[in-house]
Order: sequence, then structure tokens, then C-alpha cells
Amino acid sequence: MSVHTFPDKNAAILALANRIDDVANMSIHSNDKFSIVLSGGSTPQQLYQTLAEPPFRDSIPWSKVFFFLGDERYVPLTDDESNYKMIEESLLKPLNISDNQVFKYNTNLPPEKAALEYQQYIQQYFKNDKARFDMVLLGLGDNAHTASLFPNTNILSDKTPAVKSVIIKEPDTYRLTLNAPMINQAIHIAFLVTGQPKAMAVHQVLEGKEDCALYPAQLIRTELVDWYIDEAAGNFL
Ligand code: 6PG
Repeated sequence: MSVHTFPDKNAAILALANRIDDVANMSIHSNDKFSIVLSGGSTPQQLYQTLAEPPFRDSIPWSKVFFFLGDERYVPLTDDESNYKMIEESLLKPLNISDNQVFKYNTNLPPEKAALEYQQYIQQYFKNDKARFDMVLLGLGDNAHTASLFPNTNILSDKTPAVKSVIIKEPDTYRLTLNAPMINQAIHIAFLVTGQPKAMAVHQVLEGKEDCALYPAQLIRTELVDWYIDEAAGNFL
């Protein structure tokens, strides 16, 4: 695992955009396609906007990129809370990405069925081979959750790669998420975490006591994990 610390959010985003450019072009050179799992929330929006502008708009063969979401809130995809809506507006529409390159959760289905259907999409994409995404992007909540792997939820103990539905408290809502074994199978994993409010969570995950129930992002621990953080988020390291 490597931690890359930058003076500010802009610098961290530019560095991660360059990393994505490199990995995407390597994957496309080798396999003629690149699968990326996108994170939600607010932090990555600027990253996606950066990727949709020059030079990255022109340096990545976007028609060979396939987009997945690491997690989704159980709301209509047109809802302001939807991760898909944020990704569509900041990345997919500006790049004119065609719908058949994007794998969305069907939040019109009951949560468990929506999770199962997404898992089937993944299995079909990987032709029932081991589902190894070329890259997974992750964020970190100030309670040390990542994707929708929240503290003290039952899916944290999963051992088999899967897509799961989970109820989170305050407010009681459903989330849909890749579980940790599915994320850890990826070839490259990158966290993007910025801002002082995340500093304690970053410290707890990277240097705190081993307690994945309390700090779920500790579950994402393969040697291929890179952290892209700004100095504010790294303040307690
Ligand atoms: C989500 C994300 C979640 C996010 C963290 C950080 O659906 O919210 O997938 O895991 O990455 O909550 O969110 P912010 O970037 O908004 O702080």
C-alpha cells in the first residue's frame, strides 16, 4: 500500500487523473478495454470533471472504457442523492459515453434483487471468470466507511466476492455496494480523500488499531492500494 500526499485537493486530483490515464492506456493496450469502478459522494466530482476535460478527454480512448459504480444509494437514478446522477453529469455526459459502456444499479427493483442483478452484470462482463476490475476508485467517510461498507454492518464479514444490499442507520436507508472481497480482487485500487474532516478517519484506517467493524476501510488492504490524499486529510499521519 502507498500513501501519496499532496499540498491540496487540486494536486491530489491531478495526480490521480494521471494515474487513471496511465492505467487505462496500459489496460487498453493489453486487453483493448478498461474497466473502472467509480466512487460516489462529493469528493470525486472534481476528479470526474477533470477527466472530462483536456488533456484527459483526449488522452484516454473513452470508447474502450467500461464504467461501474462501487455503490449506490437506493434512490431513483434521477435523484440528487444518486451517485449515478453525479457521475452522469460530471463525466458520462460531457464525454458522450454511450449507455452500453455503463453499468447502473436498477433501483426500481427491490434492494436484494437490484444487488443480485448488478452482480450478474459483473459476472457477464467478466464472462463468468474471476471479476477483476482494472481499477476501483474509493472514497472515505469521516466514520471510516468506504463504498457502502459502513461500521458494524453484517456484510463486513463477507468472504465471497459479491454485490450486496445493506440497511444503514441514520437515516434508515438501503445502499447497494460491492463487498470487500469483490473490491480486493481488483488490479488497482485508489482512495481519494481530502480535507481536514477526514484526517482522523485516515489516521484510524492507516495507523489505528485493527478493527474492521469500526473502521471498514481497513478491509481494503491489498498491496495494490494507493491513497491519494491532501495534507489536510493526512494531518494526523
Ligand atoms: C457514497 C460513497 C461513499 C463516499 C464517502 C465519502 O455513496 O457516499 O460511495 O463511500 O465515498 O461517503 O463521501 P464524500 O466524498 O462525499 O465525503
